Amino acid sequence: MIQIAVLGYGTVGSGVVEVINTNHSSINKKAGEEINIKYVLDLRDFPGDPIQEKIVHDFDVILNDPEIKIVVEVMGGVEPAYTFTKKALLAGKSVCTSNKELVARHGAELLEIARERNINYLFEASCGGGIPIIRPLNSSLTADEIDEITGILNGTTNYILTEMAEKGSDFADVLKEAQDLGYAERNPEADVEGYDACRKIAILSSLAFGRQVDYEDIYTEGISKITATDIKYAKAMGQMIKLLAVSRKVDGSFYAMVSPVLVGPSDPLYSVNGVFNAIFVHGNVLGDAMFYGSGAGKLPTASAVVADVVDEARHLNRSIMAFWSSKKLELTDISNSSR
Ligand code: HSE
Repeated sequence: MIQIAVLGYGTVGSGVVEVINTNHSSINKKAGEEINIKYVLDLRDFPGDPIQEKIVHDFDVILNDPEIKIVVEVMGGVEPAYTFTKKALLAGKSVCTSNKELVARHGAELLEIARERNINYLFEASCGGGIPIIRPLNSSLTADEIDEITGILNGTTNYILTEMAEKGSDFADVLKEAQDLGYAERNPEADVEGYDACRKIAILSSLAFGRQVDYEDIYTEGISKITATDIKYAKAMGQMIKLLAVSRKVDGSFYAMVSPVLVGPSDPLYSVNGVFNAIFVHGNVLGDAMFYGSGAGKLPTASAVVADVVDEARHLNRSIMAFWSSKKLELTDISNSSR
């Protein structure tokens, strides 16, 4: 039996528990061993809920329990997630996470700690919700030199732009719907101003290019200035406005940006609607590949986290993650160019 601990019983944490309970027999078969949630760390209590018997309030209980081999960090935010993750890895426990903010900021360091200990820091759920994209970049596409990643990487803003275009809905109303559906960040400014997509393209670029891409260096513009009139004119021209995250390698220079872009019907990203995400990747030998699916929400995100847990259960004490150097990759300013 593999004992795991879940840090955080919010939207994604409760989704992880639900996925493991719902699919326990197939998950255990695929993992090769039974996966058991021994602890759930949360500040709150959940009286009357069966989860209460697993609730602990002190991370040290998890850290000091040698039975815990895998820690699932789904707290979000940098602290205390960073401290807990680092301590867990230093103690030889693998960590699976959906925390894009933490991976974008400290991924290189945490991957290095994991690699030195033959364990893993896995973060499939950090980009694209339930869509497999980290694993392909880490394994299936490693024969290639990746020279472009372009994606719709934020479900909330894609949902808002789609509803505004299709139903003429008001920005604030649709944002509220996205929050009620569990798509939006706790502070929706991270979605609306493009910061969430920026962190995700920083992670994908770091993994694809093998060097730390700092998200602070990426030109980022969100959708808060997009008006109903902009959407009306875009529609009149047969176009959709999409918040795109782009990173490219051109003649040895690297570019990255997040910005609203007019997308026409011939572009495969044109028909990516609602909360769906899509990520287009170009490799120098592969050519084009595209990954599409549910980009946000409790269960799609939890599905990717639990897949990492299963993968880790199969590879305990073997490092499987590609590594990116903490040496910063200098980006060229792309803010004045078109897509
Ligand atoms: N708020 C994020 C989104 C959640 O809307 O895409 C998934 O990372």
